[in-house]
Amino acid sequence: MSKEIKRIAVFTSGGDAPGMNAAVRAVVRNASFHDMHVYGIRRGYEGMIDGDLERLERRDVGNILHRGGTVLKTARSQRFMTPEGRRSAYETLLAHDIEACIAIGGNGTFTGASVFTEEYDIPFIGVPGTIDNDLYGTDLTIGFDTAVNTAIEAVDKIRDTADSHNRLFFVEVMGRHAGFIALNTAIGSGAASALIPETDTTIEELVEFLKMGARRKKLFSVVIVAEGNKNGNASEIAAQVKEKFDFYDTKVTIIGHLQRGGSPTALDRVLSSRLGFHAVEGLVKGHKNVMTGLVNGKIKYTPFSEAITKSKNLDNDLVRMAEILAL
Ligand code: F6P
Repeated sequence: MSKEIKRIAVFTSGGDAPGMNAAVRAVVRNASFHDMHVYGIRRGYEGMIDGDLERLERRDVGNILHRGGTVLKTARSQRFMTPEGRRSAYETLLAHDIEACIAIGGNGTFTGASVFTEEYDIPFIGVPGTIDNDLYGTDLTIGFDTAVNTAIEAVDKIRDTADSHNRLFFVEVMGRHAGFIALNTAIGSGAASALIPETDTTIEELVEFLKMGARRKKLFSVVIVAEGNKNGNASEIAAQVKEKFDFYDTKVTIIGHLQRGGSPTALDRVLSSRLGFHAVEGLVKGHKNVMTGLVNGKIKYTPFSEAITKSKNLDNDLVRMAEILAL
């Protein structure tokens, strides 16, 4: 039987994602329900090292559910990658009698948690928060749905002007290592193509595809470019395409950090609440060093070791469908 946990800490880390606040709220409210004291650590592992934390009670997390960003702030900590940094972080937890932590973040956050929990005996539960949706062990990550909605709204607007001028637009979306945002944006906005890290589409193939569209009387076109695709950034790709095919006047738009902000969608609010709630349930049931996820609609706990090393595959059927529906 595991020891009853009475004092926990929650923090957000890595890139912010819409819905993180809803997850923080769910953690604090469910922990309070279980009579736990909760500390909110500011700026992720940086705040853990610096001792930047405060008690959070039920009312402290009122009116944050609908807000983008993270009220706890966030950071990508270099210092936590060093043994000295992790020792200082552990001393902060000891000084406040914190018996377990809930970490809301992405792959880097859980890689840090994995190393830390091997060095120090303190249970961690992860909550997947990243717009990239690139974590194994959950069908969806916090913020992904909002980011895709933001990108689709932007492409809808770009279509208006692309149509008016008969132009070819290259729209760059986020996703350093994964094409989930790009592929879903392309499907949801009816774009001609998505260049993503998971596929090997060459410039020549793209040009052939665009030529086919032109032959089929496509008067304008939008191509979605994931940051991490193999052909370069949107401007480089636009230049390469223009050299081979100058039928359209070509423009480039980078959506950038717009995708990271804004009020979370209904889906993200519910997802974040469920994952945050079940992070605390997991601790109560004695789970440790696992990430809470949603798989086929059900809550699942995946060890950090798997969540950070296994890759979540894109659905090939979606890739095929996107191509067929595009022209
Ligand atoms: O991991 C989330 C993400 O938004 C990626 O899609 C993007 O490549 C990266 O973070 C940008 O990081 P930063 O905000 O530190 O520039």
